[in-house]
Amino acid sequence: MIGVFDSGFGGLTVLEALLKKIPQYDYLYLGDNARAPYGGRSQETIYEYTREAVDFLFREGCTLVVLACNTASAQALRKIQTEYLPKKYPGRNVLGVIRPLVEAVANNQKIKRVGVIGTRATIESQAYEHELKKINPNLEIFSQSAPLLVPLIEEGWQSKPETKRILKKYLQPLKIKQIDSLILGCTHYPILYADICRIMTRRCQVYHPGEIIADSLKNYIDRHPKYKINESKNPQRIFFTSDSSRRFFDFAKKFVKVEIGDIRKISIQTK
Ligand code: DGL
Repeated sequence: MIGVFDSGFGGLTVLEALLKKIPQYDYLYLGDNARAPYGGRSQETIYEYTREAVDFLFREGCTLVVLACNTASAQALRKIQTEYLPKKYPGRNVLGVIRPLVEAVANNQKIKRVGVIGTRATIESQAYEHELKKINPNLEIFSQSAPLLVPLIEEGWQSKPETKRILKKYLQPLKIKQIDSLILGCTHYPILYADICRIMTRRCQVYHPGEIIADSLKNYIDRHPKYKINESKNPQRIFFTSDSSRRFFDFAKKFVKVEIGDIRKISIQTK
């Protein structure tokens, strides 16, 4: 079973793409809605919350975990991969979303100037910059945190003129830099995909994060066949949230094409 973790609902945009591309696996989605948003929290807190979520998902029987959350990928993944897993779960893996998005952009030779938008914690971590530079040190990178977008989307304001104005304000500094590509470094931003593309115009390539992450996960599993063991004819989809399941249903219904049968409210901490 593949565990998909997000601070809240946003990771459903990633799960939607995974279910489209590789539906043959069992998936367990965990949203830490009770403690979301993570985007304004400190590195220590984001690491602790993410580590607890990883423990929870492995305890529930996941063999591989994907951190669909950019903030968790930016602030916690590295430490989990290099320090926590080798000690506590040797032989198991946790993957993030930053590397696949970075590879798609940095390996495209036509792209010289890259923009990144994300939560405050993601942008402050500079995780995208570091990863992009590792692949192509010549890239020019411009980052912009866009902290108001998550609450506006969760409030259902994605089509309101106020949201479009705020989005424009966030994107304008990147547009002025004449970026060739924009990385949507947050689970929620694909919900504004059409507006973002319109503002950035056709000269700027905006990749769909879900599709890239799904391609990358498929590729990873092909290269690590031990995870294929879980391929099944009647794959399971399990949903857990640490907060209200009604709000979870409402968000899913509004924004993604993911069929959610039952959602269980759980406590992530063991203590
Ligand atoms: N899921 C988070 C991300 O992708 C956005 C919401 C939050 O701040 O928790 O960065």
